[in-house]
Amino acid sequence: MPIPDPAAFILANTRLQPVPHTPEISLWLADEITPIWRLTEEELGEMGLPPPFWAFAWAGGQGLARWLLDNPREVVGKRVLDFAAGSGLVGIAAMRTGATSALCADIDPFCGAAVALNATANSAAVSFTEDDLLEAPPPDVEVICAGDVFYEKPMAERVLAWLTVAADRGIRVLVGDPLRTYFPRSGFDLLAEYEVPTTRELEDSAVKRTCVWTLAAT
Ligand SMILES: C[S@@+](CC[C@H](N)C(=O)[O-])C[C@H]1O[C@@H](n2cnc3c(N)ncnc32)[C@H](O)[C@@H]1O
Repeated sequence: MPIPDPAAFILANTRLQPVPHTPEISLWLADEITPIWRLTEEELGEMGLPPPFWAFAWAGGQGLARWLLDNPREVVGKRVLDFAAGSGLVGIAAMRTGATSALCADIDPFCGAAVALNATANSAAVSFTEDDLLEAPPPDVEVICAGDVFYEKPMAERVLAWLTVAADRGIRVLVGDPLRTYFPRSGFDLLAEYEVPTTRELEDSAVKRTCVWTLAAT
């Protein structure tokens, strides 16, 4: 079912707040997950939906955004894809750091509006697609960023296969991950390790050890 006004929904149910690990970026985020998840299901008239990922800055995305902001050489003058963008945090960090362009991709029907609102709040020009990019070869970019994408087995397997194709084509693949169950580890080289503030409501602790990795070509 089409959402009548996703931007109005986001503005009514979130607040603009600094991201804990990248306070130079503020996003429209929810404070609690259960109420906004229930409201999302009501808005879409469907039950059993995935959580509103876009309403939170996940540990993997926070770590990866921090890495980009502190390591401009990764993205300055480059075309960047923020795959599974959620709020768009990583794409916004790439543009704030000097990327030529940032395309945010996510299949959640609220993400286009969330990314647009968040980009405006940070004076960053990012584009957005809701196409499932995993169904085609990786797009023509120089850097692919993926924050917190290894939380479900089927998705993790698809993403890893797709990112491997990208790395083998010479695309720089950067991943932020708090050592989720399905993060493969093998084939990834460690770039940085952070203690990322999160909430006990979302995670099992108030701080998540989060690593930034690059995927080596095979
Ligand atoms: C845990 S969230 C991470 C969001 C963001 N990268 C961050 O770190 O805050 C995972 C995201 O993956 C998205 N996702 C799942 N399958 C996808 C697919 N095939 N293509 C693009 N995004 C996908 C979900 O909609 C969700 O927004």
